[in-house]
Amino acid sequence: MLSSVALFAVLVPAALAQGGCSPLELIYARATTEPPAKYSAGQFDTAAARSWSKGYGAAGYSLFTNVSALIPGATGYPVHYPADMGGSSPNEGTADMLKHIEERAKACPQQKYALGGHSQGGFVTTGAIPKMPANILSRIVAVTMFGSPACPTQVRNRCISYCQSGDSVCASRGGGSPKGAKGAKLGGLVEREALWAMAAPECAQYASKPTSGLGKGGHLGYNADGLYVRAAACYIAAQFNKGGGAAGGAAALEQ
Ligand SMILES: *[C@@H]1O[C@H](CO)[C@@H](O)[C@H](O)[C@H]1NC(C)=O
Repeated sequence: MLSSVALFAVLVPAALAQGGCSPLELIYARATTEPPAKYSAGQFDTAAARSWSKGYGAAGYSLFTNVSALIPGATGYPVHYPADMGGSSPNEGTADMLKHIEERAKACPQQKYALGGHSQGGFVTTGAIPKMPANILSRIVAVTMFGSPACPTQVRNRCISYCQSGDSVCASRGGGSPKGAKGAKLGGLVEREALWAMAAPECAQYASKPTSGLGKGGHLGYNADGLYVRAAACYIAAQFNKGGGAAGGAAALEQ
């Protein structure tokens, strides 16, 4: 009896063992037109399950699997919003991000959060953060965005807004040009060469990865060769571990 109880304890995922609360949850909003395209009310999860990117978008789903490899038991939530060209879409995303993090933070007093998005998903993220109360902001360990607006002041010391050259969406953003961790000015663009300077030291290795597959994609190229996704995941894990999270390591990302 005792031994079967012990075995059960080993098999139970970390999230369940803590009463359904994972150590870290990635809350991420996909880019415009990433699936699911159309879903009826309450059917987001069913519709999202049909695409490989599970409602996170391409870069977002890779970010989630990379973060899960670094932080055992990490969970993820794709923001439930249309991500279409409709004028109400960003506000719907912002409302859902706020609602979700407030619910989770209440249910899971120890849980930490990483937030982010791609393109319109970045607008969702930068729209939600200024509306969050201090007791939730303090539990956000990292924010990573791709092809998005600059980091909001509330999280500027733990946020990176990646913008690669050729991405006309973020590169053209005059006054709102992306800024690095600690608010460092990066000339508007966070080029791959500059990644090492702003990421945690343990993430520097990703700046020297081959560049194949990038350069053509511009705004949609963040998942092309894994560089940005790995750098973002490493940054999230480093931030999480700094805040006393479970041990993790960049080695889990090497395949
Ligand atoms: C990390 O993301 C890249 C794509 O950006 C993907 O190719 C790779 O499989 C991911 N790694 C893990 C451990 O999920």
